Amino acid sequence: MIFVVLVLQLLLCSFAETKPKLTQDEFFNYVDYPTVSVSPTGEYLFYEEMRPSWETNSFVRKLWLYDIRQQQKRLITADSTDFFFPMWSPSGKWITFFVNNHLMANTSRRSLERSETADQYMYFYSVSTNKIIPVQIQNIQPSVATWSNSDTVLYIVGPGLSSREEDDAYRKEWKDVINYRQTKPGEGSTIYEIKIDTTDSLISAELSIVYNASLLINELLYVSYEEQLVFTSKSRVYEDLDNFEIYSIHLNQPSSSFLRLTSLEGIEQNLQLSNDGKHILFRLWALSSGRIQTTQRRLYSLDLITLQIGRLGANFNGVITEFTIKPDGGVYFIGQLGLNVQVYTQESLTDDVMYRQGWNGTYERFSSPSNRTGGPIAFAFSSLERPKEIYLAESIDRLGFAKTITDENRLFTQRDLPHATAYHWRNTEDNREIEGILHYPPGKLTEKNLPLLVLIHGGPNAASVNELQATWNWATMAATEGWLVLEPNYRGSTGYGDEFLDELRHRLLSLPGQDILMGVDQLIKDGIADSQRLAVGGYSYGGFLTNWLITQTTRFNAALSGAGGAEHASGWGTMDLPVLLSYLHGGFPWQVPNVYSSESPIYHMSKVRTPTHIVVGENDVRVDADQSFILERCLHYLGVPVQLLILPKEGHAIANYPWSGRIKVREELKWLHQYGNQTLPKESAANIISFSFTLLSLVICTFCFSFQN
Ligand SMILES: *[C@@H]1O[C@H](CO)[C@@H](O)[C@H](O)[C@H]1NC(C)=O
Ligand SMILES: *[C@@H]1O[C@H](CO)[C@@H](O)[C@H](O)[C@H]1NC(C)=O
Ligand SMILES: *[C@@H]1O[C@H](CO)[C@@H](O)[C@H](O)[C@H]1NC(C)=O
Ligand SMILES: *[C@@H]1O[C@H](CO)[C@@H](O)[C@H](O)[C@H]1NC(C)=O
Ligand SMILES: *[C@@H]1O[C@H](CO)[C@@H](O)[C@H](O)[C@H]1NC(C)=O
Repeated sequence: MIFVVLVLQLLLCSFAETKPKLTQDEFFNYVDYPTVSVSPTGEYLFYEEMRPSWETNSFVRKLWLYDIRQQQKRLITADSTDFFFPMWSPSGKWITFFVNNHLMANTSRRSLERSETADQYMYFYSVSTNKIIPVQIQNIQPSVATWSNSDTVLYIVGPGLSSREEDDAYRKEWKDVINYRQTKPGEGSTIYEIKIDTTDSLISAELSIVYNASLLINELLYVSYEEQLVFTSKSRVYEDLDNFEIYSIHLNQPSSSFLRLTSLEGIEQNLQLSNDGKHILFRLWALSSGRIQTTQRRLYSLDLITLQIGRLGANFNGVITEFTIKPDGGVYFIGQLGLNVQVYTQESLTDDVMYRQGWNGTYERFSSPSNRTGGPIAFAFSSLERPKEIYLAESIDRLGFAKTITDENRLFTQRDLPHATAYHWRNTEDNREIEGILHYPPGKLTEKNLPLLVLIHGGPNAASVNELQATWNWATMAATEGWLVLEPNYRGSTGYGDEFLDELRHRLLSLPGQDILMGVDQLIKDGIADSQRLAVGGYSYGGFLTNWLITQTTRFNAALSGAGGAEHASGWGTMDLPVLLSYLHGGFPWQVPNVYSSESPIYHMSKVRTPTHIVVGENDVRVDADQSFILERCLHYLGVPVQLLILPKEGHAIANYPWSGRIKVREELKWLHQYGNQTLPKESAANIISFSFTLLSLVICTFCFSFQN
C-alpha cells in the first residue's frame, strides 16, 4: 500500500515537474486585447491584438474580424502601432478606424495606404468584400469620433483652429516664451461633420465644421433625440473640477452656444446612450475638492429631458469599472468587489442589481450587440492562473459556458505559474480587516519561511485583483523567481466600500503603511514569511508607500520605488492631479502644513537604511521625476545603496516602449537578488544582540565541529 502511494507521489511529482517555469522572455511576450466589439446585429465581432516588438521597441497591433456563426476569423489589418476608435458603422456593414500616420510601423502583408504628407485618412473595412478603403479627411488628426444613427454621417473632434493672422500676432508678441495660463490661439476643439457617400467600391467624404469650441472636448456622443451632440469637457490638469462636465449642442441650431448638463465634483467618463435614446449613462470618478467625500467610480443616468440624475448600481458596494447598454433596456456592468471583477445586470433605476454567475477572475471589454436582444456577448477574461483571452457566450445566462476564440497566450497555460490565494489580516488599531493576494513560488504552496516581497498597487483608488498581468506590474514574475509576493489592498483601495476608500484621508501614507506592516507581521506569525528576508516595492501610490515604509522600519532588506513621492508640497505643486493630493491631506499646503510634512517621507529620512532601487518615466506628469531625484539625493548623502533609472520618453503608465518596462523589471529583480534575500545585521539593539548570538553559536559550533573531529 505504502509502495503504491509512493509510486503515485512520484508520478504526480514528475507530472508537476513537466511544466517548466515561466522565463522573463516569455512573461514579457504576453498578448493583450485592447478592444473587443460585437457588431450591431450580433453576427460578427472585431478585436485588437497587441504584442511587443522587441526589434522596433514598439507595441504592434492587429485588427481581426470574427464570424460568430462560421466560427472563423480573418485578419483586417496588421502592423499598426495604433488604431484609433475602431467602430462598427450603425448598419454593421463597415468597420471604420483611423491610424496615426506618423506612428505607423513598417507595413507588411496587408498594408494600409501610407502617405508622406500630413494628410490623414479614415479607413472603411467592408465586412462583405473584405476590402479596406481609405478616405482622406484633410490633415485632421481626430481625438474622438462618433457615428450618427446612419452610415452616412459621422462626427469627429480635431484640435482647435486658428487663423494665420492670429498665430502670427501671438508669435510676434511672445516669440518662444511660454505664458503658462494664457490660452494660445486654437487651443480648444473643433467638431466636424463627415458626410459619407458609399457605393461598394468607392467612398467619398465631405467635411464641414459643426462647431468651434473654446474648451477641450474629451468624449463625443450623437443623440438623435432633438438632434444633438453630447460631449464631455476636459483640461490638461485636474485643478478645477468645473472643467470636467457634460455638455450638449443642438445640430439644427449650431450657432447657439452649448448647454451645460451637469455640475458634479469629479470626472464624467464613458458616455453611452440608453436604449430609449433619452438618457445619457456615464461613470463618475468622484474626485473632490473637499466639499464632498470621494467615492468609488459609480454609474449614473442623466435624463435629457429633465436633466435629473439617477444612480445605477446604487446597492453595489464595489467600483464599477465599465458598462454596456442592454439592447432591451437596462445595463450590463462590470464591477470589482474584493479580489474579483465580475458581471452584473440591472434592468432599471428601481430594479435590483443582479450578479451574473461566471468565473472568479477579471472580466473586461464586455460587448453585446446594440441592435439585437439576447446575445451573443463577448469579453476578455483572465485570472491569476489563467491568461487573458477573448471569450464568446451565447447569452448572459450562459456566461459560465463561454468559449475562447483566441489562443495567443497558450504558452502561459503550459507553464508552472505561481499559486495565488486570498490572504486576510486585521489592522489591530481600528480592527479593520484587510485583504491581499498572496502569490506562492511555483511548487512552494506548503513551504514555510519564504523570502517575502510586498508589492503595493498604485492609485490609491485601485486594487490588486484576480487578474494575470504581465507588464511592469509583475507579481507573477517575482513569485516565479522564488519570492512569496503579498499584494495588499490597503486602506484607500477600491472594492471594499466607500468608507474603506475614504479612511486614509489625513493619514494618506501612515494608515495604509500600518495596514501593510500588520500584514507582514501576520505572515511572519503564520510562519509563511521569513522575518529576515523581507523586501518592499510599488509603483505610483505604491511608490509613495514604499518610500514611506523605508522611513518607518529597517526590517526591509531592499526596496523598489517606482514613480513615488518624497515631499508632498512639491509633489502637489507639480502633479497634474493636485485635487487628489489636497483632498487626501485635507487642504492646501498652507492650510495644513503639519499634515503635509508629517506624512512626507523626506522629513523622516534619517532612519532609512534600506538599499533602494528607483524608477521613473522622464515625462511623468502625474508624479514628477523630481520626486525620485529628491529621494535619490537623500539616500546618496545618507550612504544608503541606491540606483535611479530614468525611462526615456515614458509617462506615468510606462506604456510607450516595451523595453522600458522590461528593463525596469530586470533591474528590480537584480536588486532584490543582490540585497533582498539575505540575513543582514541591522543596527537596532535587538539585531546586534541576535547578531552576537549568531557569532556565539558560530564559535560554539566551530568548537563542536573541531571536537567531533
Ligand atoms: C435595429 O433593428 C430594428 C428592428 O430589427 C431596425 O428597424 C433598425 O433599423 C435597426 N437599426 C440599425 C441601426 O440597424
Ligand atoms: C521599412 O522597411 C524598409 C525595408 O525593409 C526600410 O528600408 C525602411 O526604412 C522601413 N521604414 C520604417 C519607417 O521603419
Ligand atoms: C471655425 O473657425 C474657423 C477658423 O477660424 C472658421 O474658418 C470657421 O468658419 C469657423 N466655423 C464655425 C462653424 O464657427
Ligand atoms: C470565488 O470567490 C469567492 C470569494 O471571492 C469564493 O467564496 C469562492 O469559493 C470562489 N469560487 C471558486 C470556484 O474559487
Ligand atoms: C534565497 O537564497 C537562498 C540561499 O540562501 C536560495 O536557496 C533561494 O533560492 C533564494 N531565493 C530567492 C528568491 O532569491
